[in-house]
This record gives sequence, structure tokens and C-alpha cells, in this order.
Amino acid sequence: MNPMSPFDLVVATTNPGKVREIRAYLPQWNCLIPPLDLMLEETGDTFAENARMKATQAALALESWAIADDSGLEVESLDGAPGVFSARYGRTDRERIERLLFELGDEPERAARFVCVVAVANPQGEIVAEAEGVCVGEILLAPRGTGGFGYDPIFYVPAQGLTFAQMTPAQKQQVSHRGQALRALVPQLARLR
Ligand code: IMP
Repeated sequence: MNPMSPFDLVVATTNPGKVREIRAYLPQWNCLIPPLDLMLEETGDTFAENARMKATQAALALESWAIADDSGLEVESLDGAPGVFSARYGRTDRERIERLLFELGDEPERAARFVCVVAVANPQGEIVAEAEGVCVGEILLAPRGTGGFGYDPIFYVPAQGLTFAQMTPAQKQQVSHRGQALRALVPQLARLR
């Protein structure tokens, strides 16, 4: 393998925000958006299972290297919910936030963590690299900030004194679960080349 020639790497997601973020961490790779009709199952019980499943499916379907991530929010006093069901907790970001705030009510124990697992599969569908990132915070009583997406306005990071929705994209990337997972993945990928 010529170390100077970039690998094509399909980013197995339909979320353009994720594609942008992954591209930023992997400038040596030729990150490609998959065809719209690529259907990816995520029926696992853990973030790692889902990330591996999506990377393997995309790699085999497109006969290419593929990267996938799976992420979500775990709230301690809800026994880890919504967890792998974070995206399916409501129909819209607003509904998901409202449901989470309703479930928590005035519960004083509001510790939570965002988790992200990224996995890379080779064209044979084998997982060749994997990393996890975790960002610890707490769920506010009401949304704060207008940036980001998903649960960002109610996820407060005490170390920064800000919610994810109050951070600039660069600030969020620095502390976020996805940023940490991608930074841990980069040296593993470098060893493959
Ligand atoms: P995925 O696309 O299957 O990984 O679903 C992740 C879901 O978790 C998203 O739909 C969001 O609801 C939530 N989520 C993951 N990462 C973040 C984040 O950085 N901010 C806010 N919500 C997130």
C-alpha cells in the first residue's frame, strides 16, 4: 500500500454534521458520503454493537473501507435511558428533550453522560479499529443555548460552565464524546496505513 495515497472511506451515516466532523479529524482519508439508498440496521444493545454493525454493513455493501459511529445520552437516575434509544426517544429534538425533562421531573440527581463509539471496517467487513469517547455532565431543568442539535440545550458540562448548545462548534468538539472518540481513533488508523 502506498502510504501517500489516501484511502477511500465511506462515512456510514446520513447526518451531514457527523460527516463534517469526521472529515475534520481524518484529513488524510478521502471521506465519502454513502448513496442515499444504503440502509443500515442498528439493532444492537450497545453503542459498540451498533457502530460495528453499521461499519460492517456499509463496507460489505460498497466494497470499501467504512467508518460508523453510534452515540447517545445516558442519564444515571433513569438507569441509563435513553441510551441506545436516544434517537428514537421522540419524533423531533424538541419532543425528545420534553420527554427527558418530563421523565426526570424535579429529580435532584441529574448526572448524565454522552457516549460515542466509532468503528472502522475494512472492505471485507472486518472491524479493524474502534474507539469510545465519554463526556460527563448533567441535565438542566430547562434548555439553555441555541447551538448544536439533539439534547445539546439541556446537557450542561460543569467543567466548561456551559451547555453543549452554548458552546462554539470548536469548543464542543474539544470536550464532546464524538471528539474524544475520533481523537482516540486517529492513531489506530495511522497504524493501518
Ligand atoms: P445515532 O445517530 O444513532 O448515533 O443517534 C444519536 C442520537 O443521540 C441523536 O439523534 C441525538 O438525539 C443524540 N446525540 C448524540 N450525540 C449528540 C450530541 O452531541 N448532542 C446532542 N444529542 C446527541
